[in-house]
Amino acid sequence: MVSNSELVEKAREAMNMSYTPYSHFTVGAALLCDDGTIYQGGNIENASYGAANCAERTAFFKAVSEGKRDFTAIAICGGPNKDDTDFCPPCGICRQVMREFCDPGRFRILLSADHGNQIREYTLEQILPVSFGPDDLK
Ligand code: THU
Repeated sequence: MVSNSELVEKAREAMNMSYTPYSHFTVGAALLCDDGTIYQGGNIENASYGAANCAERTAFFKAVSEGKRDFTAIAICGGPNKDDTDFCPPCGICRQVMREFCDPGRFRILLSADHGNQIREYTLEQILPVSFGPDDLK
């Protein structure tokens, strides 16, 4: 059983793997699978700015590309980091990627800064209401 604070620590660690020479806005994510494994990701920027990949999607794509399909929670750390309640909420594209693989009522999103012990928790349903997902294509 991985605690919220343990998952946040993994997300903070993942900030070290970010590549952010343009924005210097460093984000780390740690994605917890239902089987207890954790995939970390940092944001990866590009000289062609639009080619940047967010930390959350880095973590998701690493996990999905290794066969994982069932997810419990994701912790996201970093961003402004001015104080310990200055969180980085996931962008719309990342929320939609979560929606592809996660049960909106069950999947949890934990937000924290790069320091401190403040953690804000949401379900995917709360931050992406009235969403479009795989079932809508059936
Ligand atoms: N970014 C993330 O990694 N996650 C988010 O949810 C929001 C934005 C990254 C993308 C870019 O590298 C930098 O933050 C500034 O937008």
